[in-house]
Amino acid sequence: MRLRYKLIAVFSGIVLLPTVLLSICLIVIRKNYADIIDYFLKRPDVKDLAIKLALLIISILILTGIMLVSFIYREIAVPVGQLSEGTRRIAEGDLDFEIETPDVEDTMAELCRSFEYMRKKLKESTERTIENESENRKLISNITHDLKTPVTSIKGYAEGLLDGVADTPEKRQKYIRTIYNKANDMDRLINELTFYAGIDTNRIPYSFARINISEYFDDCVDEIGMDLESNNIAVEYSNDLDRDTKIIADPEQLKKVINNIIGNSVKYMDKEEGRIYIRLKDEEEAVLIEIEDNGRGIDNKDVPYIFDRFYRTDTSRNSSKGGSGIGLSIVKKIVEDHGGRVWAQSHLGEGTAIFLEFRKNI
Ligand SMILES: Nc1ncnc2c1ncn2[C@@H]1O[C@H](COP(=O)(O)OP(=O)(O)OP(=O)(O)O)[C@@H](O)[C@H]1O
Ligand SMILES: [Mg+2]
Repeated sequence: MRLRYKLIAVFSGIVLLPTVLLSICLIVIRKNYADIIDYFLKRPDVKDLAIKLALLIISILILTGIMLVSFIYREIAVPVGQLSEGTRRIAEGDLDFEIETPDVEDTMAELCRSFEYMRKKLKESTERTIENESENRKLISNITHDLKTPVTSIKGYAEGLLDGVADTPEKRQKYIRTIYNKANDMDRLINELTFYAGIDTNRIPYSFARINISEYFDDCVDEIGMDLESNNIAVEYSNDLDRDTKIIADPEQLKKVINNIIGNSVKYMDKEEGRIYIRLKDEEEAVLIEIEDNGRGIDNKDVPYIFDRFYRTDTSRNSSKGGSGIGLSIVKKIVEDHGGRVWAQSHLGEGTAIFLEFRKNI
């Protein structure tokens, strides 16, 4: 039976049942005390009073019935109807609606709120899945596009070698070196794809250890300095930390973070005399790592987005700088998986500073 009919039945019950019972009582009384009843009913004032009393009782019953039924309808039937409609829509994959919560704070209001919370969470997760899928498709198409360039070069230079176009040892050497460099580019792109496929599903194989941050950076800066000599970029390093300061980190992944940041500083360097400053600072409970360059800088409006996946201030994929716009999103993911924070400050034309903060492990 539908809820509406049930409510009509309840209403009829509230009004009819007491009326019938009262009538039976009156009939029984009349049968047993007919003389007294007839005597009173012959008096017009008593008869009038009896009719008024009966009408009053019936009115009270009707009023109570209406109030009770409308209360049940408003507080239970309407929310239950909404919930059942909502469940049906969710089952059909529609999550774009809202359940109204009753004004009265009770179990029903709580149920509606929980339902609404569940719907919002479901919607968020569905949207995230759709977004991830579309970003993955974009990533694959980006990397495929980037892979085509070195493949075309490798084919061209290999054909040059086969056809004898490279007819001097120097030319041959140059062709082979180019093929080698292009193969390295491909290797990097394939690694990027493999790594990113893992990061997307939270499958980064972390291996955390307690590391001495000063020793770690001393080695790191030596390595970076050597790599950057050929780019005409000088590295300046300062360390205010206590030599014993330790953090919990995965050395391999931390390296990836630093390489990505330094890689950007090199890629976006536009000064003759490039400089990268690496500063380690003490922050009582945490360690602050600043990596600053004097490169081309980032426009203020772009700074909040550079850690987003695929965000590039230079949107042209054919630009000389290349890249997929995922480097800093990987940095963010790794730093946050370490319980740390990362942010940036930049001035267009002057340079960029990336800050990393990790909790100390005492
Ligand atoms: N040091 C920097 N100087 C100037 N611009 C920067 C710097 N670091 C990042 N950016 C800007 O932020 C954007 C996002 O950086 P991110 O490392 O995520 O991507 P990418 O370097 O373009 O590509 P990928 O790292 O995937 O090869 C870059 O495209 C660039 O515009
Ligand atoms: Mg990058």
